[in-house]
Amino acid sequence: MSDHHRALRPESRIVHPPVEEVTGSRPLGVPLHQGHVFAFPDSDTLADAFGAPDGAFLYSRFGNPTVRSLERAVADLEGGSGALAASSGMGAITTVLLALLRSGDHVIAQQSLYGGTFAALADLTARWGVAVTFVRGDDPEEVRAALRPTTRLLYLETVSNPVARVTDLPALIGAAREAGVLSVVDNTFTTPLLCRPIEHSADIVLHSATKYLGGHSDVLAGIAVFADAGLHHRVWHHALEQGAALDPFAAWLTLRGMQTLGLRMRRHNEVALDLAGRLAAHPAVAAVHHPGLPGHPDHERARRLLPDGQGGVFAFDLAGGREAARTFVGAVRLASLAPSLGGVHTLVLHPASTSHRQLSDDELTAAGIGPGTVRIAVGIEHPEDLWADLEQALAGL
Ligand SMILES: Cc1ncc(COP(=O)(O)O)c(C=O)c1O
Repeated sequence: MSDHHRALRPESRIVHPPVEEVTGSRPLGVPLHQGHVFAFPDSDTLADAFGAPDGAFLYSRFGNPTVRSLERAVADLEGGSGALAASSGMGAITTVLLALLRSGDHVIAQQSLYGGTFAALADLTARWGVAVTFVRGDDPEEVRAALRPTTRLLYLETVSNPVARVTDLPALIGAAREAGVLSVVDNTFTTPLLCRPIEHSADIVLHSATKYLGGHSDVLAGIAVFADAGLHHRVWHHALEQGAALDPFAAWLTLRGMQTLGLRMRRHNEVALDLAGRLAAHPAVAAVHHPGLPGHPDHERARRLLPDGQGGVFAFDLAGGREAARTFVGAVRLASLAPSLGGVHTLVLHPASTSHRQLSDDELTAAGIGPGTVRIAVGIEHPEDLWADLEQALAGL
């Protein structure tokens, strides 16, 4: 990457991702290298290629030019030394967990994790004896109190789902670092345009690139970014065995989507905050959970850690409770009732009866989810059309 490229702002760098060389000219769109195997002039050169994640391409499970363009682009945006793309967000998450943990190790994890991550940790506990202590996301003393001689990882998410609590990354990561414990942060909800956990001393940053990075609900992808090259090599060696490599076409789609990430995130931020304010004033709405609103418990932390915006996902509680929420999510017309988030389409969901249905009433309350809570992942449609849709659905309650 040239000095000129490095000096650009992230929104400009993202439009010009690193492209592997083509003789005599430079393609502006990243080329799709779908072939999975590469030929060599002699055995020594081939042997050298087996050793490192940034060596010559030999076989696409080890590395591929299109996939590497994506890895370099996301590593650049996050401020990491390198990245590893995987076939989904969960592929990236389990690759990192399985590479770094062994039987008997201890993990400190945030309580409000994405359900798939929670299930992966529960599986490691049940089958491998990996112990997990859960903490809230706001108190470094909880991390210090949970530390054991066997603690290997602190696992956090930048913003919690669905009630958008903002994690105190610098304080929690600082507490882990004092004890020599690695920090892993899932940054899916904020993207590197709103938060760069490596600037807060995180060791690994994870993304479900299926969400904002891809951005168009047409690709599954995951990526792990490493602050340190040694850690990257270690996880890459494990990734070869696990075989969770990203398909080049999925990498190509993700890169194409990412070029508009700057525009999309600005729109998600603006429209979500606008709708949150309008919902807060509606008589059918009991509470709105958006960290950009002054009443949110993490408003001050959001101003400090996410000054450029808090993304497009937030939640609100309907005064009519469970039935009102279920009626509402079935009554929207422009928005869709669907899981996922981070795409151009606005999606709504009733967490208590779908994404979080396995939680008990007490666990739901601890997660801030009420019977009438609705999650909304705001897309990029016109705010007036979206508000008209939400208003007509609210009018039917
Ligand atoms: C925060 C977060 N991390 C990870 C994942 C898993 O990503 P994927 O569906 O790409 O495997 C999700 C999926 O919703 C998510 O919301």
